[in-house]
This record gives sequence, structure tokens and C-alpha cells, in this order.
Amino acid sequence: MQGRGLGNKSLEKAKKEIDKLREKIRHHEHKYYVENQPEISDYEFDMLMKRLEELENLFPQLITSDSPTQRVGEKPVEGFPSAEHIPPMLSLENVYSYQEFLEFHDRVARALPDEPVEYVVEMKIDGVSIAVQYEGGILTRAITRGDGFKGDVITENIRTIRSIPLRIKETRAVEVRGEVFMPDEAFEKLNRERELNGENLFANPRNATAGTIRLLDPRMVSQRKIDAFFYYIFIERDFPRLAHWENLQLIKELGFKRNEKIWFCKSPDEVLRIWEEWKDKRDSLPYGVDGLVAKVNSIAQQRRLGNTAKFPRWAIAFKFPAKQAVTKVKEIILNVGRTGAVTPVAILEPVQLAGTTVSRCTLHNEDEIKRKDIRTGDWVTIEKGGDIIPKVVSVVKSRRTGKEKLFKMPRHCPVCGAELYRPAGEVIWRCPNVACPAKRRESILHFVSRNAMDIEHIGEALVDQFLNEGLVEDIGDIYYIKKQDIENLERMGGKSAQNVLDEIERSKKNELWRLIHGLGIRYVGEKTAKILGSHFSSLDKLMEAPYEELVLIPDIGEKVADSIVHFFRDKGNLRIIKKLRKAGVNFKGGKEEEKGPKPLEGKTFVFTGELSKFSRSEASSIVEGLGGKVSSSVSGKTDFVVAGQRPGSKFRKAQQLGLRIISEEEFLKLLSEIGQVLQ
Ligand code: IVH
Repeated sequence: MQGRGLGNKSLEKAKKEIDKLREKIRHHEHKYYVENQPEISDYEFDMLMKRLEELENLFPQLITSDSPTQRVGEKPVEGFPSAEHIPPMLSLENVYSYQEFLEFHDRVARALPDEPVEYVVEMKIDGVSIAVQYEGGILTRAITRGDGFKGDVITENIRTIRSIPLRIKETRAVEVRGEVFMPDEAFEKLNRERELNGENLFANPRNATAGTIRLLDPRMVSQRKIDAFFYYIFIERDFPRLAHWENLQLIKELGFKRNEKIWFCKSPDEVLRIWEEWKDKRDSLPYGVDGLVAKVNSIAQQRRLGNTAKFPRWAIAFKFPAKQAVTKVKEIILNVGRTGAVTPVAILEPVQLAGTTVSRCTLHNEDEIKRKDIRTGDWVTIEKGGDIIPKVVSVVKSRRTGKEKLFKMPRHCPVCGAELYRPAGEVIWRCPNVACPAKRRESILHFVSRNAMDIEHIGEALVDQFLNEGLVEDIGDIYYIKKQDIENLERMGGKSAQNVLDEIERSKKNELWRLIHGLGIRYVGEKTAKILGSHFSSLDKLMEAPYEELVLIPDIGEKVADSIVHFFRDKGNLRIIKKLRKAGVNFKGGKEEEKGPKPLEGKTFVFTGELSKFSRSEASSIVEGLGGKVSSSVSGKTDFVVAGQRPGSKFRKAQQLGLRIISEEEFLKLLSEIGQVLQ
């Protein structure tokens, strides 16, 4: 009791300052937590609080329960006594469609013949109901909804919510009712922390809120960032104003946080319009809402409509399509995608969710299953996010019977049996076999696609026919299809069959990058394929390239290099490449002038002897880059024979054939002339 000895004068002075400080702090708390419009910095606010704490420490006799310093109790409570609700806290009847909402409206209209009915529409906050009482302007009690007649007194916890005033400017008995909720951001942060600590995750913000307000230690509650919106007010156990809209106004005037998304509607149509708009927009709010609540505005009309045992007849919850549902995991299977990603998928007991029946749901990967501890036979909460793909949010552990089975990721592809691999640093297992039937259709479609081998006339329908008739099993077989086979297919005449064959034939001459892209090597998209196609003089060189060499190529990372090496190790892939080679598909690559003119187009070169300025393969790349062809043997079709030092038998043959033989210098001169022409 340090303050005692300081005399009345200083006590009075302190009281004055304390009162002023509290008033200021309340004002700024309201600005910050209720209106979201702070007028001072956090630092300035903290300084005010610090000063108040100092003074209260000096004069503890001046501490009152409504002081802003007294929000968080210092010790856990021993339990929650129960208290009665007068009047009872009713629940709401739900409707899910406009049809049902109209039925509600008809009932209302029939009970109020010849009277206009106006609705106040509010957001239905996905939280936990609460009643907060004030006497003489001071917060005295906060009670959970409980069964509607009786709830738990959780005053200490509710006091920690900074937007709830501890004191109001109304001295009569006031009760406000509303919804405590946890904003999405706080929910996600909480779950992240729980995950790090190895604690069970909350399935949704509502569960997190319910769990939080029942914590015995208010100090823990104060760290959880929950908040509250109020939508009801009683003064001396009655509505203070004659219309709900006006009561909502009073709630705000008294300093409570009210949800500002409220509408005044004169017809059911207007309600529908708000519902249509917000069912798609609800994710834009920083807290969860699960529908709208439409309430008859006139309190007199509300009284005449009355209540059933459970629900008011003058209000309805017009729910948005559910985004969460609880269902059972019947089985966990594996799905193999085009790129070979092997994804575990939960086969679910079919359940309605946001307007569709959900019977399967991706579990993403092995780690995710472990993290969420999902087992076959588990009851799980599933959810549709903004992307409309359902996901498992959490397991309902309380429904476990002990018969649930742990999931173990198989080591072999469930479809073709190839050994799965998991690239370094990744969470997804992959099937390396390009001929894996599961990947077949997609890999063929990718091979023929415009940005790969660009084989026109082969689309989804034809690929399906090829597969069904057993004409192709993998991309290599495309080059062995016979005209007759195609002609015999449905909707295929001789002419279209020939077109398809011509296209297939043409594709054999494609540049190497198209083939590399078409193979469907994981992480090798068009851009990477082009880099590889011009870096390597042939597919064989790429196939032989070790990881260490691949990672040295600009723009080729470790992940890509690793994937390439794995691809060419797979026996199935090698078989396909053999087929492509035998069919005469171009395997030759090298530097290409992307779009520019091809001055050596149609010219065939043969190199013989040692070159001094470049290697044989560099020289070949240059010629090919300019559109020319490099052949390993001389023939009547050879245009230039480039003879280096100590030329071999090709030189003699060229002489015999009377071909044009040039030296390395002449070759260089030719190139520089071409360069000038190109400039
Ligand atoms: S009015 C007598 N308005 O929804 C009418 N309830 O499903 C009582 N809720 O128990 C409720 N937002 O917890 C009302 N704007 C809102 C609401 C709302 C959420 C909750 C409330 C109620 C439940 C009924």
C-alpha cells in the first residue's frame, strides 16, 4: 500500500490523472479495436498504459475492475459457474435456397396480413454466441449460450477481448448478445504455432474460438486474438427501441462493435440479391461467415410473430452453401498423373459439400498424410476452399475406434510396378516409366501437342481410339501405325488417314528440342528443351550427360538435372527412345539460329581430317544452325567436303566423285561471308 503515506493531496491528484488516462485509453481502444481507425501510434498507446500502470501501482486503492489495466486476470479460474438466460438465447432456423427463404417469408406475411414487412439483413458470423451484461455501466458477467436456457459464466475470458468495453455510458441493466469469433489470420497463426508445438490443430476458426473462450487461464485467452460483434441489446430486459435497425444503432452508440455489413430490405428479392452477391464474396471478409440472417425489423411485428420452442418466427438464417462437411475415409488409393506424380487420394463416403457430391479428395503427399495423421477409416472434416477443390482439414479424432489403419506409401507404381523415386528435396514420389499405362494417354497427347512434336490431326479422340484398338502403347508406336490401321477406325477415311500419316512423317524431321520436350521429362518444359536441344549435338549426347555436366549448363538447375538423369535411366524410356531412333526421328541437335534465315538450307556438309579452330561437333552445330545438314559420309548429294589436317578416306572419295572440297580457312571465309549477308 505504497500510496497510503503520500497524503490526500497526492491521492486526489493521482485519481484525477488516473481518470483522465482511463478515459483516453478507452477512447483509443475503441478507435483501434472497434472502429479500426487508430488516432495514435502503438507506442503512444503503450506509454499511456504504462503511466496508468505506474499510478495504479502507487495507489492500488484506486484500481477498479473497469480499468483498462484489468482486462487480463492474473490467475486461472477454477471452473465456470452456470447462469440462466432471460429471455432464453434462441437459435435460428436455417434455409439453404431462395425457394425455402420465400416459404419463410410467406409464413411471416400470412401472419401479418396487409402489413408491409421489412427485413434487416446481417452477416451470420461463424463463431460462438455470447451474452454480456452491464450493471451501473460496468461489465459484470459474460455467459456462453450453452443450451439456450443456461450457459457458462466466462467473464474473465471475455474481458480480455479489447473491443468489448469494460464500462459503458448507460447505468441501467444492459445485456448485449452477439458472436465471439477468431479472425482468419489469427486462426492461421494459431494453427501454425500449434503445428510447431506438435499440438492438435483446430479444424476451423469456430472450433478455435469455442476452445479459446473455455480456457481456464485468461492470460492464455488474451494471447489468442479473438473478437466479438454484437447484434442484440436489452435494457432492463427489454428492447430499448421499436425497430431492430434502431437497436443496432444503439449498440454502436454505446461503444460496442457491430458488424457494419447490414442491409435494410423491403422485399425478399432484395435479400436474395445480397445472398447471391455474398455467397461468392464471403472469402473477402477477414473472418468466417456462413450465411445471412434476415430479421423482421419491427419489434412489434416480432412480438406478434413470437417464437417456437427453439426458433424465433421472425428471423431466419439464409445459409451460404456449406464449405465444410464431415465424412469417412473408406480407402486411400494412389493416383498416377501424366508427369508421373503419384498422389495419395482419399476415397470418401459421398457427402454434399457446397453444392456438389464429394467422394474423393487429394491428400497431396505422404508427408501431408503424416502431418494430419489421416488413417483409413477415419472421420475427417473436408472443406472447399476458394479453388473449389476439396481438401481434408483435419481428422475428427474423437470418433476413432482404434480400427483405423495407418497409411504406408508404396515403393512401386500401383499401375506399372516401376520403382518409384522421390527427387531430392521434394515431397512427391514419382513413377519414372514413361510407358506406364496411367500416364500413357496424357503423355501421348503431350508428345503430339503443338509445343512438342506438333503432329496435327492427332487429338484426344484419335489417341483414345489408338489406345483402345491397341495400336499404340507409347509415343514410340506412333511411328509404326499403318495407313490401313487408321482407315479402319471410326470416322476415318483414306484421305484423313493419309493426312495423319503425312504429319507423322513430317514430324520426324523436327528440331531436337521438340523431341526432348515431347518425351515429357519432368521439369523439362519448352524453354528448357530448347536450351538442351541447342546445347547438345544429339539426343545421345544428352542421354549420356552426367548430372555434373547438366548442372553446368546455364539455366539448368539441380532439380532439372536430377530429373533428366533419372528419366534416361529408366528401361521403359530407353525402349521408347529405341523405337523413335529406328523410325528415323531426328535426334540431331545443336545451336540453332532461332528464327533468322537459314542460308545453308539444303546444303550437305561432310567433315574430314582434324580442324584447328573448332571441334568437329562445334563445326557441325554451326552448319546445322545455319540450316545445313552434316553427314558422316560422302555421296553424290554432298555439297561441301571440309578437309582439315590429315584427311582420311572421305577426302579421296570426294575427289573421285568430283565434289567441292574446301579447306578449313575457306570454310571460315564462307561462314564470315554468310555472316555479312546476314548482317
Ligand atoms: S440472431 C433469436 N444474428 O447463429 C435470434 N445470430 O444458428 C438469435 N449468429 O445462435 C440469433 N450471426 O450464434 C443472430 N447476425 C446474427 C448472427 C447470429 C451469427 C449465430 C448465433 C446463433 C446462431 C444460430
